[in-house]
Amino acid sequence: MVITAYLDQKREEVDRFLDSVVPDARTPPTTLHESIRYSLFAGGKRVRPILAIAAAEAVGTPTKAILPIASSLELIHTYSLIHDDLPAMDNDDYRRGKPTNHKVYGEAMAILAGDALLTLAFDLCSRRDLLDGLDPLRQVQIIHELAVGAGNLGMVGGQVLDIQSENKDIDLATLQNIHTHKTGMLIRAAVRMGAIAASATPAQLERLTSYAEDVGLAFQIADDVLNVTGTREQLGKNANTDAQRGKKTYPTFYGVEGARTLAEQCTNRAISRLETFDAKADPLRELAKYITARKN
Ligand code: IPE
Ligand code: IPE
Ligand code: MG
Ligand code: MG
Repeated sequence: MVITAYLDQKREEVDRFLDSVVPDARTPPTTLHESIRYSLFAGGKRVRPILAIAAAEAVGTPTKAILPIASSLELIHTYSLIHDDLPAMDNDDYRRGKPTNHKVYGEAMAILAGDALLTLAFDLCSRRDLLDGLDPLRQVQIIHELAVGAGNLGMVGGQVLDIQSENKDIDLATLQNIHTHKTGMLIRAAVRMGAIAASATPAQLERLTSYAEDVGLAFQIADDVLNVTGTREQLGKNANTDAQRGKKTYPTFYGVEGARTLAEQCTNRAISRLETFDAKADPLRELAKYITARKN
């Protein structure tokens, strides 16, 4: 299979769906909706929604309910990026190829846009009209997965540890803990939500969860490597910011080449978790490779 064609097709589906459910920029409060749309449609890769869709495909034939479920992950992810870039956090001024949200709309509006995106994600997942056909018990389970992945013991917990570790001589176990939470937990939720939507068996869910944990770590190691090797043009965000901010990353411990090798090992391990799955899991296999080989 050709992963680039798959990614393009799924990205378009997710974008079309998001455009249809997020209020347009003329809807009051107009500045809020303009600010939300500015970041949401700035050109993200949509990796988390695509992982959810691919996990559903690996297990069965996804129904229409997969799109709101998958898209809710992108709403959470975009909120996390807007807040991550704020002066009180990473203080970045460039994201997805454009000035960061707070640079354009101010800090208060950027905070509120993030708040609204987070809330909207749970709105999407809890709607019965959009998730018609999905067993209500599964729907509740999916909402729970989203909360766990995004919240205090998930992505937000990882962000806390990341911020507290700035300019500190953290050890490798702490770094891994940061990565598996700030990035890994939402990716884990993405795969599990897709699998649950497609009625995965407990054994399938367990294997897919292990796959997701390996992919999540590989994803953040790749992000660390790109921060050292990439350019602003390639990344759509400023490079070399980790070192400037005194953040220890995988390249700090292993060097760029060592970190790349580690990411590849995570990818291979992820793919080996899918041994018992047939060709319907090929998009997941290709996604794992793409996540370490990507240039942005
Ligand atoms: C960047 O995420 C932040 C991390 C969690 C590493 P992505 O690399 O998925 O960013 P977009 O969504 O494509 O902009
Ligand atoms: C971002 O991590 C993680 C979340 C937004 C949850 P980073 O701060 O390392 O990612 P970039 O480099 O800003 O995209
Ligand atoms: Mg950060
Ligand atoms: Mg950052």
